[in-house]
Amino acid sequence: MGLVGSLSPSPRRLPRRPPRKKKKKHLSSPPAPPPPPPPALTLPPAPTPNQKTTKKQFGTFAALALAAGGLYYARENDLLPSALAKSVDYTAVRKAIADVLERDENYDDGSYGPVLVRLAWHASGTYDKATGTGGSNGATMRFQEANHGANAGLKVARDLLEPIKKQFPGISYADLWTLAGAVAIEEMGGPAIPWRPGRTDAADGSACPPDGRLPDASKDAGHIRDVFEKRMGFSPRETVALIGAHALGRCHADRSGYVGPWTRSPTSMGNAYFTMLLEEKWRKKKWSGPVQYENASDGTLMMLPTDMALIWDKGYRKYVEEFASDADAFDKAFASAFGKLLELGVKF
Ligand code: HEM
Repeated sequence: MGLVGSLSPSPRRLPRRPPRKKKKKHLSSPPAPPPPPPPALTLPPAPTPNQKTTKKQFGTFAALALAAGGLYYARENDLLPSALAKSVDYTAVRKAIADVLERDENYDDGSYGPVLVRLAWHASGTYDKATGTGGSNGATMRFQEANHGANAGLKVARDLLEPIKKQFPGISYADLWTLAGAVAIEEMGGPAIPWRPGRTDAADGSACPPDGRLPDASKDAGHIRDVFEKRMGFSPRETVALIGAHALGRCHADRSGYVGPWTRSPTSMGNAYFTMLLEEKWRKKKWSGPVQYENASDGTLMMLPTDMALIWDKGYRKYVEEFASDADAFDKAFASAFGKLLELGVKF
């Protein structure tokens, strides 16, 4: 199929798929309950001078004091005891995430879902299979990695999740960020994403990956291959499926320098990114910003150079065509590739 699509609107050009789950309005829901107080450690009363303290009592006191100190240290350093992690009610965490997605109708297109998906992807997409470094384990974006250029704007997503971390202190940041991406996809009408807990948080930034691992949007198919196939270990089909997440959200001038959404339904997960790529006619946007493409029919949609690479490169284009014509195949391929992405470098 050529790049030039008909200029008259056709139903296939607006593949809005209603989210599978009926979307609840969260705007009027009551604020989340205050976080429960931290588990209290009951210490025996300190022995008074006139109280005869047996060796056994003193031993118990010392052990509890040590345990309290250990718990304090673990909390301060995010080394959460696995017992705490095991006690997390992940269904309740999922609900808490779903409840904040549409908290602010004035944020972007009315949903924090897309930026949460980007957080999960950027937390995971630094993985290097050759060295086993990077990836979602460690939640290293809490350290200097937050200032890497590619992560501009993700503070919004991390801050949004902070009250949920306080409410469920047993979940690691690494688990929370990846789970938030999975829940956001599901809440926006996408497929169920395989997800399991087990990531731990690094105590400091020593495990941060070097800056520059995430893909550069100004580059070509060779760069996409280097990042997704050679460094992370995805197949070409998985690579195309993953980038299909650009069905969601938009580019922001103050974050990446690019502007605009890829689809007309940026809060609905589906194969619209692929149908837009094939059915719209794309031309270079005339502006002073970085090279990006706009749809010729009304200039309201955008594509990055790396997005265009998916239709210019023969090896990738066949999967764009497959996913554009078969939404179920895309759902399955995306769920499996995104689930794999969220586990890169994690030892369960
Ligand atoms: C070649 C690969 C990729 C490149 C170059 C790329 C680049 C970008 C850029 C420049 C933005 C705009 C950021 C902003 O200004 O706010 C963006 C947004 C986004 N990306 Fe990607 N991306 C790639 C792959 C992916 C993958 C694999 C996923 C998820 C699986 C993903 C999910 C998203 C989402 C959901 C947004 C919208 C965020 C929002 O609305 O705030 N991207 N991407």
